[in-house]
Amino acid sequence: MLAPRPGSGNDAGLLPFVVDATRLEIVQPLGGLQGDVARGQALVANRSESGCVLCHGIPGERFAGNLGPSLDGVAARLAPGQLRLRLVDSRWFNPQSLMPSYYRLEGLQRVAPQRQGQPVLTPQQLEDVLAWLLTLR
Ligand code: HEC
Repeated sequence: MLAPRPGSGNDAGLLPFVVDATRLEIVQPLGGLQGDVARGQALVANRSESGCVLCHGIPGERFAGNLGPSLDGVAARLAPGQLRLRLVDSRWFNPQSLMPSYYRLEGLQRVAPQRQGQPVLTPQQLEDVLAWLLTLR
């Protein structure tokens, strides 16, 4: 039995999800949704919506940050469920992570007033970003 901790699917207002705390995975797609690679790629390229390229090098992107590791080949290093949890709540991997948690409500900082009470990405957007990540082999 998992202790209820933030980001473990217990936040009111989020779709429930199950974290495998041993393998650090969320195996099931959020909301059972299917991700779309093209939409995910567009989201990642959009600096204000996702912010990924502010911190990560990605293949084909010349102006990218380096606070985080390059995402080149990341799908060969991590399982899909691990990538999903990394996007949902990066604190499972590193409690001090600089990476935003994209599907969490509790403990977020500097949330714009119009975004209060909403995760950074919708379940569909998160699955779209994940679908794109899975192409990086
Ligand atoms: C503010 C900086 C920042 C932003 C924005 C950010 N990340 Fe990260 N990310 C990091 C850091 C730093 C790490 C290294 C591990 C850690 O400290 O948590 C990381 C780790 C990762 C990893 C694991 C990589 C590995 O090789 O283990 C993935 C995958 C990832 N990020 C994807 C994304 C995606 C996709 C986005 C956009 C939706 C994103 N990140 C946005 C900073 C960021």
